[in-house]
Amino acid sequence: MKLKIAKLPGDGIGPEVVAQAVKVVDAVCARYGHEVEYREALVGACAIDATCSAYPEETHRICLESDAVLFGAVGDPKYDNDPTAKVRPETGLLAMRKQLGLYANLRPVETFKSLVHKSPLKEDLVDGADFLCVRELTGGMYFGAKGREDGGDTAYDTNIYHRFEIERILKLAFEYARRRRRHLTVVDKANVLESSRLWRQIAKEMEPQYPDVQVDYMFVDNAAMKLITGPKFFDVLVTENTFGDILTDEASCVSGSMGLLASASVGEHTSLFEPIHGSYPQAAGKNIANPLATILSAAMMFEYAFGLMKEGAAIRKAVTESIDNNIVTEDLAGSGKAYSTSEVGDWVASNIR
Ligand code: IPM
Ligand code: MN
Repeated sequence: MKLKIAKLPGDGIGPEVVAQAVKVVDAVCARYGHEVEYREALVGACAIDATCSAYPEETHRICLESDAVLFGAVGDPKYDNDPTAKVRPETGLLAMRKQLGLYANLRPVETFKSLVHKSPLKEDLVDGADFLCVRELTGGMYFGAKGREDGGDTAYDTNIYHRFEIERILKLAFEYARRRRRHLTVVDKANVLESSRLWRQIAKEMEPQYPDVQVDYMFVDNAAMKLITGPKFFDVLVTENTFGDILTDEASCVSGSMGLLASASVGEHTSLFEPIHGSYPQAAGKNIANPLATILSAAMMFEYAFGLMKEGAAIRKAVTESIDNNIVTEDLAGSGKAYSTSEVGDWVASNIR
């Protein structure tokens, strides 16, 4: 198969971790006889520096013309403490999500047997946890009307959701639940928020179409607690954009490191694959960041974008073996030897070849 991949390393540790995923993609393609073509493009702070836009038109065109987007991270501390900045690196990611119509962010949370003792949570609580967070990605407070009034002393963000946005994300979540353990948890704040009440209303309307799926409803504050007191409760969890952002960082603790959580964003145009950890500027350029989340995102890319399941499985197997053999970066190494980002990438790639 011929695979056209848009490569968007972005900022911070993005370039380092994406470079490792590329090694792994190349190894898989060599082993299974696929031809791969990369087109690199700018997004985030590096794009602002070069073009004054965080998501340049050229980058959008390259994404549209590709079969998948492999993305690193965006963000730069120089913008974080400047509330007056006109453009921000994060705007690039949000524009990309919106313009590619990526309304669903799929964040699987799994545990690795040899890592359960590294989780900040008790081993028996996390051992065997395996769930999928489905986060709505192009609506809610992130994209609703926002602004300042009173000469800047009043600020607002609007948490707005339309029926079609809720229906399409719930449909996807119901379908994923069907392919898994048929248990869907709809997370909202319906005791307070009107938008949540609409989510719940629509979910209840859709329930009869999926009689084989057991649905429960949970308030987000309760879900935040349940994720750490009983993560094995969950199979598929679906929620709105902001709640999903917060809950998935929390959920990453279940696997032991944020450096392990991969994600796929899917929707109307080219799907995008990215680690959830962000740009981690303190580690940028040091060759210490964990590349496994990006490598696992590449596995999701083979599975979700190309329908190449064996290839995805080969990557997962090599990642599990690297962890089992303690070929891991400092976030997972504990008192053992910490390998560098590129050493872990090389090990996983050569294990596939
Ligand atoms: C994420 C990130 C982004 C988000 C930021 C970088 C805009 O935290 O993908 O979870 O808030 O969605
Ligand atoms: Mn986030």
